[in-house]
Amino acid sequence: MRSRFSSLQGDFVFLDAPGGSQVPDEVGDAIARTLREASANIGANYETSKRVEEILATAREDGARFLNCSSDDVVFGTNMTWLDFALSRTAARDWQEGDKLLFTRLDHDGGVAPWVELAADRGFEVDWVDVTPDLELDYDDLERKLDDRVRVVACVASSNAVGTIVDVARVSELAHEAGALCWVDAVQYAAHEPVDVQALDCDVFICSAYKFCGPHVGLAYGKHELLESWRPYKARPAASDPVGRRFEVGTAPYELLAGFSATIGYLESIGGMNAVAAYERELGRHFIDSLPAGATVYGLQTMEGRVATFLINLDGVDAADAAKRLADEGFGVWAHDNWFSLGLREKLPYPENALRVGLIHYNTADEIDRFCAALAGL
Ligand SMILES: Cc1ncc(COP(=O)(O)O)c(C=O)c1O
Repeated sequence: MRSRFSSLQGDFVFLDAPGGSQVPDEVGDAIARTLREASANIGANYETSKRVEEILATAREDGARFLNCSSDDVVFGTNMTWLDFALSRTAARDWQEGDKLLFTRLDHDGGVAPWVELAADRGFEVDWVDVTPDLELDYDDLERKLDDRVRVVACVASSNAVGTIVDVARVSELAHEAGALCWVDAVQYAAHEPVDVQALDCDVFICSAYKFCGPHVGLAYGKHELLESWRPYKARPAASDPVGRRFEVGTAPYELLAGFSATIGYLESIGGMNAVAAYERELGRHFIDSLPAGATVYGLQTMEGRVATFLINLDGVDAADAAKRLADEGFGVWAHDNWFSLGLREKLPYPENALRVGLIHYNTADEIDRFCAALAGL
C-alpha cells in the first residue's frame, strides 16, 4: 500500500495525520486528470460538461458509501468548519432567543465557534458538557444539562487532541429524548473508524477528506427530512436536486471531488475502514507498549475507547524543543498548547505545550520502534 504514496518513499516518518494525512498518488492523478479532461461547468451539451456532471454524481455515491447514507443526503463543502458555519445558520433560522446550545469539552473549536457566534448574534445560551477525569465525555453531565430549551448537542466523534471516542449513538439518544439535534464533528473519527450515520442516528455529521488521504474538501450528512425542511442560503436559480445539493453554494470544486472519489476507491481497495480500524488499534497498542519511561499520555491509557491519536509529554523535556529535535531526526510531530480544543485545554495539566503523535494506517510498527527510540534519546 505504501508504494502508492510518493511521499512515503523517503525516510521521513509522518506521525502528524491528525493535522492532515499523506495522499496516494492516484488521488493527485485524478485531480490533475479532471483539470486536463473535464474543465467545464455543469449543464452544457458537450462532452467536458457531461464529464463534470458524472464526477459530481459519482462523488455523491462514494460519499454515501463512506457514510452509509443515501447519496441524496450528502453535502460537499470547503471543509468541516465552513460546512459547520453554513449548516448551523440554516438549521437555526427559526430558533428563538433563550434557546440553549450545548457543545462538549472534547470539541475542536471548528465545532464550537459556529454556535458561539450564532449565540452572540441571536441571543441563544451556550454551555459546555464536561469531561471525566480520564478525559471521556461525562454523559451524566450531558443528561443534567439537557432540557426542553436545548436545540442542539454538538460533539466530536473523537477528540483531535487526546483521541477519546464519543459514544455518538448515546448522545443522539439523549439529545433526541430532549427534542434536540445531535450534531457531529467527525473530522478525526472518520479517518480511523468505519462510519454508519444511520446506526449513530445523528442529525448532522461532518468530516474532511484531507484527514483520510484525500484532497482538501469537506463532506456532510444531514438527515433527509431535516435537509428537506431547512431553507438554504443560496443563489436562487442554482440546482437544488438532490436535496443535499441545496446546501452546496456556488460552483463545486469538481477536480477535488474527482480526487475524493479516488480517495474512497483507495480506502476500499485496502480493505475499507474496518480493516483500517483493526490495524490502527494494533499499532496504537504497540505505541503505548513501546513508550519510554518518563512519558506521560494524557487521557485514556489503553486503546479502549480511543483512536490512535496521543497527546504526550516527556518528563523534563520541553515539548516545543522536542518537536524541533524530532523533526531534525526525521519524525513529523507537532507541539502545541490547546490543539484548537479550548474547552479541553482547561482540563489538561501541562504548563505550556504537549506533543501530539497521530497514527494512521500507513504507519508501521517499525516506524513506531524508531520513533520511541528517538523519544527515549530525548
Ligand atoms: C476534530 C476536528 N474538528 C474540526 C477540525 C477543522 O476541520 P477543517 O479543517 O476541515 O475545517 C479539525 C481539524 O483538525 C479537527 O481535528
